[in-house]
Formats: sequence, structure tokens, C-alpha cells
Amino acid sequence: MADVSADWYEGFFEGDYLDEVVQWQKIDDERTRGEIDFAVEKLELEPDARVLDVGCGHGRHTLELARRGFRVTGIDLSPRSLELARAAAEREQLDVEFILRDACELAFEAEFDAAINLFTSVIGYFADEADNQRVLDLIARALRPGGSFLIDTINLLGLARRYRASDWQELESGTIMLQRHEFDFRRGRNTAVWTFLRGDGSRSELSHSLRTYTPHELIAMFERAGLDVVGSWGDFDGAKLSFETWRLILRGDKA
Ligand SMILES: C[S@@+](CC[C@H](N)C(=O)[O-])C[C@H]1O[C@@H](n2cnc3c(N)ncnc32)[C@H](O)[C@@H]1O
Repeated sequence: MADVSADWYEGFFEGDYLDEVVQWQKIDDERTRGEIDFAVEKLELEPDARVLDVGCGHGRHTLELARRGFRVTGIDLSPRSLELARAAAEREQLDVEFILRDACELAFEAEFDAAINLFTSVIGYFADEADNQRVLDLIARALRPGGSFLIDTINLLGLARRYRASDWQELESGTIMLQRHEFDFRRGRNTAVWTFLRGDGSRSELSHSLRTYTPHELIAMFERAGLDVVGSWGDFDGAKLSFETWRLILRGDKA
């Protein structure tokens, strides 16, 4: 399988990801509302809480939190995603702050009551594990003492049970998406190549490489960042984390 560049995440989320995959995943309003119901409940957010959304993308969670009256800041390095997020906020006249920034350059200090990082974003993307840890450290730094962080990412133990080297989907647009996967056991990284085959005969490819974590690995990273893990789940329906669950959701609290 082709090598994926270390900075694959710069540009990956601009085009086909937004135009095709976001539709394919049926990332609809109802799903987002359910995820935010879960986050609000599990983070025990007070009505006027200030919340940071790291890797906010086109802002689906950030906007939903703003609709519920929370004071929200979303950061992301994808210009087009943030354009979409800002346009939606303007349409709905929501007061949300969106910042174009690499999460490695988060510079907040004890400003937020809570932070979220949902849908396998940012952490695990960096080729150097020190950078993945660094983002976690910076998120912890952004929290006030007693503040809470919720991450939602892939559970490597669940991924292992359903690993498929290849797969395909028909997207809502009618485009066929072929997926090829390869797992690097030395580095704990999954490489994926997605090929989009369109009805007009055109095709394009997107590749990514993602460090996937077992629960205990991610919990150790939380601890190094000064976040005490006080809750873990396997899905947004509240399922217990297990070998069966595809998601790894953790809440970590800053001392
Ligand atoms: C899988 S998308 C999820 C977006 C959003 N959280 C959601 O659930 O729709 C991951 C997002 O992380 C952003 N991202 C990736 N690397 C980043 C980095 N180093 N700093 C900031 N954002 C980053 C991407 O641009 C993309 O919008």
C-alpha cells in the first residue's frame, strides 16, 4: 500500500471528505444531537459552561452546543470546514468563535470548563506520538482546574475484531467508495486508502494514517496530561466499553 505522508491531515478534510464522506457517514442533525445529548450529560455541563471543540470540522457539535446556550470555541486547521461552520453560525445567528489553528498551537490557559474532541479527530493523526500527547497536554492546559475533557475515538480492541482489509460503500451521491486498509503492528497505525468512483467515470483517492489506541494506552496518555479518567464508554448510547465496541469514549478531569 502507498506510503501516506506524515502531514496527510493537511488538505485531507477539504474536498471529497466534506463532499462525499460526511454524507456517506449520514452525519445528520439527529446523530449530532444525540452525541451532544451524551456529551452534555456525561460532562455534567452547567448551563453557561465555556466549551472548547478541538478539531471541530464543519462545526456540527460546536453549533449544536451553541444552540443550547453554551459558550463555544471551535478550532480546526481546515479552512473550508471553518468556512462552512461560520456560514452556518451566521445563518442561524449563533454566537460561536471559530479559530483556524493547528491543535499543536493551542495557547489557552485554564479558560474552559470543558473540552470535546469527537469523531476520531486530531489525536492519533500525528506520525510522532509526542505530538499526539502534546495536543492532549494542551487541551488539559486549556481547562480550568476541575474542568472535564471528553474524547471519542476508535477502540483498537474493537477494531481488531472486525478488521477488514477491503470494503466498499455506495455513498448518498451515488459515488462508490472503495476502502483498503493495512495495519502497521509495529506502530499501531492503520493506513486507509479510499477510492471514489463516480458515475461520470472520474475517480479520486484519499489516504490517511491513524494511530489507534487500546483503552489502557489512551488512559495512560490522559494521566500523563494530568487528566484523571472518571468515565469510559463504548458508544454514544452509553454502552459499556468492551471488545465489541467500535468507539472508545473517555472523560478525563483536570485536578
Ligand atoms: C474526522 S474530522 C471530524 C470533525 C468534527 N469533529 C466532526 O465530528 O464532524 C477531523 C477534523 O480534525 C481536523 N484536524 C486534523 N488535524 C488537525 C490539527 N492538527 N489541528 C486542528 N484540527 C485538525 C480536520 O481538519 C477535521 O476537520
